Amino acid sequence: MRRNSSPVNGQTTRVIAPGRVNLIGEHIDYNGLPVLPVAIDRGLEVTFRGSDDSVISCVSRDERFDPVRFSLSETIERGPPGHWGNYVRAAGQALCRARGPLRGFEAQIVSSLPIAAGLSSSSALVVGIALAIIAENGLEFAPRELMILLAEAERYVGTAGGGMDQATILGGRHGHALHIGFDPLVLLPIPVPDSWRIVVASSLVPAAKSGAARRVYNARVEECRQALAEVARTLGEPVPDYVTLRTHWDTSVLLDVGKGALDDLHHRRFRHVLTEADRVTGAVEAMRRCDLVGFGRLMVASQVSLREDYEVSCPDLDELVDCSLAAGAAGARLTGAGFGGCVVSLVGEEECDALLDEMWTEYYLPRGLAEQGRSEVLFVARPSAGARVEEVTA
Ligand code: GLA
Repeated sequence: MRRNSSPVNGQTTRVIAPGRVNLIGEHIDYNGLPVLPVAIDRGLEVTFRGSDDSVISCVSRDERFDPVRFSLSETIERGPPGHWGNYVRAAGQALCRARGPLRGFEAQIVSSLPIAAGLSSSSALVVGIALAIIAENGLEFAPRELMILLAEAERYVGTAGGGMDQATILGGRHGHALHIGFDPLVLLPIPVPDSWRIVVASSLVPAAKSGAARRVYNARVEECRQALAEVARTLGEPVPDYVTLRTHWDTSVLLDVGKGALDDLHHRRFRHVLTEADRVTGAVEAMRRCDLVGFGRLMVASQVSLREDYEVSCPDLDELVDCSLAAGAAGARLTGAGFGGCVVSLVGEEECDALLDEMWTEYYLPRGLAEQGRSEVLFVARPSAGARVEEVTA
């Protein structure tokens, strides 16, 4: 990540950090397995002006978020759990640990991403602040180094997340989905066929990753580790990681072993992880041959697995998925961590308007939403470029 010109203290600069929608490959990034998200054309902007000291002050244009102020250091005290400022602090602490004492700034944050909707507004904030610190201090990072650093950085808030969000937000490519492997971190852009439309629809159920969902999220991470350790032990595999296991054994063999070695809960978690990883492979092939129907089928199977085996869906998400499929989507599923948040649907361009109208009528109107709020909760997301830094000229 390079800044085009040298930092000038006092100059106004803007970072644009997109949100992301995961098309398929849910809850497997923290198991080291590949995922297939896109960066989208909504995100947040951090407009900042450098200061002479180490203080970061941030205000959000959204009045629900009170101002944040702290000094950059290697040990930054956390705010209350679930507070948005913790994502700002997370970036600051990680960069100080990596690069020593740093100068701060005054920033204003404006977001076009729904909050707590599974579209990675929190990781966009971590990335946005990190790029602002990097620009202000004239630091240089290789892209993958920064992706890994910021994935670790975000764990500051207490969620044991994987690396999908930070990699997507930094590495997004216009018109492309990203096949992201984590072992090692490799991003492979795959063109999204021009006639495909990605529809994002909010369930209207908030899903704050650092709030109530955090405990359940971390429990899933732990359950996957336990299942892996038990199956690896049964197979006599010395290296207990999912990538190695999948390299050495077929999914059907692993599932048979898992059925014998694991209790019902761990077997279902294990089954989700392995079958979801296979679905990602199938989805990449479907995207490459422009097979909308085939891709859609895999999304539907993913949703079933997330609902039944992984238990991260909820009645509103299930209803919204059904609504989308009934309205003509080729596929639909929850996106992000789940427990609320958004559904991602895939539809051909010709059917897209009808799908949007029917979803609006069937899901949102009965819930009393007004037409002027429609584009906040139901929209077409375009695969977009990753985060960038710009000088503000005016
Ligand atoms: C959150 C995490 C990601 C990923 C998804 C679920 O968005 O930040 O790392 O685990 O949930 O796929």
